[in-house]
Parts: sequence; structure tokens; C-alpha cells
Amino acid sequence: MHPHLAQRNTKSLLDDRPTYKKLELNQKRNDEQDHSAMMDEAAAKFVYEDCKDEYWNPEEFSLLYGTPLWNESSTAQKVILNQLFWVGYYSQIISAEIATIYLNQVSAAGLYAHEDFRIVCDSLDLETKQERAHINAFKTIGEDVEWRLFGERLFTYPMRSLFEQTMIFADSNAGKDFWRKLQIKAFTLLSSSNAFLASQYLLVRGLRTLNGKQIQHKLSLYYTSHPDKENAPIPSKISYYHFMDESFHFNTSKLIGHEIPRSLDEPTSFEKFVMNKGIAGCQKDHFNFSATLKGIFWYEPSLFPVLYKLFRSVHFGMNDAEARKMLEGCFCQENEAINQAYELHRTAYESYKVYVDPIQYLDDQNRNMKIMGGNSIQKYLSLNTKALRNFRST
Ligand SMILES: [Fe+2]
Ligand SMILES: [Fe+2]
Repeated sequence: MHPHLAQRNTKSLLDDRPTYKKLELNQKRNDEQDHSAMMDEAAAKFVYEDCKDEYWNPEEFSLLYGTPLWNESSTAQKVILNQLFWVGYYSQIISAEIATIYLNQVSAAGLYAHEDFRIVCDSLDLETKQERAHINAFKTIGEDVEWRLFGERLFTYPMRSLFEQTMIFADSNAGKDFWRKLQIKAFTLLSSSNAFLASQYLLVRGLRTLNGKQIQHKLSLYYTSHPDKENAPIPSKISYYHFMDESFHFNTSKLIGHEIPRSLDEPTSFEKFVMNKGIAGCQKDHFNFSATLKGIFWYEPSLFPVLYKLFRSVHFGMNDAEARKMLEGCFCQENEAINQAYELHRTAYESYKVYVDPIQYLDDQNRNMKIMGGNSIQKYLSLNTKALRNFRST
């Protein structure tokens, strides 16, 4: 902004040269290395037959890995479970990215009302465009796999807006959904004209993707350590390309969420209140852990119908009693999968605390992630046991 003319803001992003430089570099490098065209190309070339007998992720990233089901599965069944991890994991990522597309735009609108924020908005525009390519690749492959294996959907869903649900298997009901919808609408209305809230959406985005970054790094290793990259399964390539794009997105989240508030006025108590609500909501979303798909914070009982369908399918061939007994063995008695899922949840919890540590306006409950930290294996087992008793398969 012109230093000698009257402006509405007393501070400018240009005064914080180091942050501005970092934003510029992040944007430039993401633009140069953009993997979204490669993702489009890979998705277009996907033929299930070509890679149907192989793993697409490192073995431990298989659906139900470490449960009795996994331990009893044949080699062919394990391949399906490995591929279904990919489908399920990225179905959740699609949902998160649908929300990201919308909220990036809202946030850019809120920040553009300030002088000198073009660099931030341009970064968010590029990321939004990349998310559409990411969604296309995940959706194309996920739907094709489910169609070929089951002739119906398990984890995928038709295109929808962010108001439907962010966690695709959540502990929810009509009442909770109503409030969630209202809260998002209120937040987007406020942040589209409020630079502080707009910047802090990126704090939430960074927090929500912190755990994803760790998992997606591990998923990308299948491709990077593949002896014949050219012929590596296409879904594993897509995991790698996606991880490449997302590393820039994560930097953007961190820079905007952590550094930008310095270039803005001090938040009001109302703004602090709204953000504390938002972070608490994020903690609630990440309260659960799942042995079905470790690294995603799904609510296990909401997966029972899908897993029942999977166990009854031709690929696993169980009858009603066998399928129920298997659900019980997987989710109501301690096993390796539950321990691993819980461990990952604890790691996420610890890293969230470190991430929000510099954020002064957060209350004690959020600084110490007390909601998320309140879950335990005991709670998980008793909840599942109760839910399984009430589970009706039809
Ligand atoms: Fe993405
Ligand atoms: Fe992203």
C-alpha cells in the first residue's frame, strides 16, 4: 500500500518481509511443481485390471490391518483390503477437500479486503484448482473399484456440498447435523468480511491436515520405494503426486494461520470466542479413532453397516452370524489394530498441542486439546459393544 496516502488499516503484510517472502516462495514453487495435471493424466489412464492383483499402499495401510479379519484373510483378500484402504482413505479426503474449496474462497474474500493480500489469495486460488484435480482422481478410481468389486458403493458417495458432512463416518444425527450446518454458515458469513477469522480458518485447516500429512507421507512411500516406478500401480502414483501438492498447502496453512495475525489488528473478544468454538469443534471431529482405517478419525459404529456388507460380499463369503461375530472380534476386543489406531490418535493429539502452542488467544481446553485427549481404548470398546448390540443389518 502507498505509505503516504490514507489507508483503512494501520498494519500491512508488506511490513512483515520474512512472512511475505515465504508466502511468495511457497506460491512460486507450488505453481512450478504443480502435480495436478499428472494426477489428471494418471486418473484417465487407470484400468483396474492392470493393478488389481497388487497392493497400492504399504501393507500396514490396509483396511482392518491387525484385526482378526486381517489375520484370517487369504492373500487375495488382503489385496482387496489394501486397495479398499486407498478407496476409503481418499473418500474421506474428498470430503475434506470439498470443504476446503469452499472455505479457501471465503477466506480469500475476507483477506482481500485488506491491502497487500493478493499473494495470499493467489495461493488459495491455485490450491483450490488443485483440489478439484485431486478430487477427480480419487473419485474416478474409488468409484470404479467399488463398482467392479461390489457393484455398489461402500465408502464413496455422489458429489455433494460441504454442508452434508465433513467426516463421512461420524457420530451424528439430524440434530447435530443441523447445528453443524448453521455453525458453518455463520462462520463463513462472518469470515468473508473479517480478515482475522479468515486467517484463522487456515489455522483450523492446518490443524485438520496435520495428521493427514503424516499418513499421506507414509502412503506416498509405496511409490517412492517401488523398484519399477513406471509400472507402479496408478493409485500409488496418485498418493505420491497428492502428497507433493499437499506439502505446499500445509505450508500455506501454517504461514497464514500462524504469521498473518501479526499483520492484522488484535482480535476482539468476539473473534476469540468464535475461534475457540471452531477449534473445539475440530477436537470433537477428531475425538474418535478407527481400527477399520487407522489415521482417519471415523466413528466405528457408523461403519458397521458398510463392513457387514463387505463381510457378506462374495469376496469374504460370510453368513449373518459369521459377519456379526467378526464385527465383535474386530471392534469389541482389544487387538493389534485397535492399539495401532489409538497410538496414531495419541500422536495426532500430541502434535496438535505443539501446533497450537504459539496461539495466545486459545483457552486452556483448546491449548491442551482436552476434548480429543479424553478418548481411550476402554471407552472405544464399551461404545462399540453397546452399538453392536443395537446393530440391525437390514
Ligand atoms: Fe488435495
Ligand atoms: Fe490441499
